[in-house]
Amino acid sequence: MDGDTATSQDTAPASEQPESEHDKSGQNTSGPELVRLEGITKSFGAVKSLRGVDLRLGEGEVLGLVGDNGAGKSTLMKVLAGAIRHDTGRITVAGKDVRFHSPADARAEHIGIVYQDLALCDTLDVASNLFLGREPKRGPFVDRREMHRQAAEMLSTLHVRVRSTYQEIGELSGGQRQAVAIARAVSFKPKVLILDEPTAALAVAEVRQVLRMIREVAAQGVGVILITHRLQDLFEVCDRITVMYEGRSVDDADIAELDIEKLVGLITRADSSDADSEEAA
Ligand SMILES: Nc1ncnc2c1ncn2[C@@H]1O[C@H](COP(=O)(O)OP(=O)(O)O)[C@@H](O)[C@H]1O
Ligand SMILES: [Mg+2]
Repeated sequence: MDGDTATSQDTAPASEQPESEHDKSGQNTSGPELVRLEGITKSFGAVKSLRGVDLRLGEGEVLGLVGDNGAGKSTLMKVLAGAIRHDTGRITVAGKDVRFHSPADARAEHIGIVYQDLALCDTLDVASNLFLGREPKRGPFVDRREMHRQAAEMLSTLHVRVRSTYQEIGELSGGQRQAVAIARAVSFKPKVLILDEPTAALAVAEVRQVLRMIREVAAQGVGVILITHRLQDLFEVCDRITVMYEGRSVDDADIAELDIEKLVGLITRADSSDADSEEAA
């Protein structure tokens, strides 16, 4: 288990940061800035997964992170969640320079993530998954009754329906599992919540539920980063999108300025100068 040691803000006087002096492109986050990534790079051996990524996220903002397979979205989010150490570049959280050495470091800065593969335990029940590693105790023993009571409360706050908190995760639908994973992440009271392809394998009604959870969480001031290939979902929940291409951030736009066609153009770089062999009719 990762202890709560080594919260490594080795740099940065937290107080005086030149706020928005070098905002390059008039991009506006919804609320005060929560996260700023600048020039992030990461190689795995010879593979340059991240070649220079900039990203910003504001309080209460839902940011869509889009890009083709292999663009580096998941790697970037693992960096922000402390699961991978980046090579160069700067991470600022609420105006403070940070360098994460473990997921616990990121959690200490209130950054939560739900990974693409969810990381739930199929053979444990819903409540145990929600509380894994921090179960309410009664003396030396897990207080199961209290745990299930709190679990039911957590789920109902987020309007998540399961038949019982005693159900095994493996018995749930994909959407319910996703909802439980999000509820677990939310229970750590993140200020930043990262969701990596949360709707990829869900039925329509289940997608709706996840999108609703995203809106509710953002309405409480949490900044949400949503990775998805379902472009139509971006228009329902996002304020802004950041586009990645081959390990770089290449665009950043308010969703209100886009439609599906434009968005696809940004993702595929259809009419960018880097792809000038493309014929734009
Ligand atoms: N642990 C790793 N070791 C080697 N290469 C990796 C590793 N993780 C990711 N990559 C590579 O980095 C690139 C970006 O991957 P990823 O971040 O998963 O992209 P995306 O999530 O946008 O599809 C891909 O070429 C992928 O193969
Ligand atoms: Mg990915």
